[in-house]
Amino acid sequence: MTRLIVFAISVISLIGILSLRKFKEEAVSNKRFNYVEEEKDWKKFKAAINPVKKKKKAVAQAPVATGAVVVLDTEELKNGKKLYAKCIVCHGKYGEGKPAQKAPKIAGQYAWYLEEQVVNIQKGIRVNKVMMPYVKNLSPQDISDISAYVAKLPWK
Ligand code: HEC
Repeated sequence: MTRLIVFAISVISLIGILSLRKFKEEAVSNKRFNYVEEEKDWKKFKAAINPVKKKKKAVAQAPVATGAVVVLDTEELKNGKKLYAKCIVCHGKYGEGKPAQKAPKIAGQYAWYLEEQVVNIQKGIRVNKVMMPYVKNLSPQDISDISAYVAKLPWK
């Protein structure tokens, strides 16, 4: 029994000595902590673990509407532009809308949608008291022409 204990103790101490020797082999540095160096190291490490994501490509800027923005190549568009003059006070020259008037942006919207809304407002299906006086005398052709024109205004 004593032999066994002695044997066990010697084995444990042998393991202990071996591991101590291993520990000694580790480079010991008495370099003082250098914040700048450490930070550099940290940044390198961080960059290595999460590589910098590629920057998103700059989204092409939509052209800013100026001057003649719609090519008036049909009679309908010409008429539409003429009639749209009445709508500018609220919806803006380029159909951009005016928050002060609570008037939405309508430029570039689908023509069929614009037409439907104006018709509905005219019929009173969609209630819009402020716009009513401006649309009540428009003929179906006029509404269609304005819609075609507004739909061609650039959606900025
Ligand atoms: C007095 C200001 C005013 C004038 C003038 C005016 N509008 Fe409006 N318009 C508005 C307001 C306010 C709304 C939003 C109403 C609502 O909330 O229903 C609107 C909504 C619309 C809409 C619906 C937009 C959508 O996204 O649903 C269309 C289309 C429209 N107007 C077209 C016209 C046209 C065409 C004219 C010219 C004939 C015109 N408006 C003149 C104030 C005006």
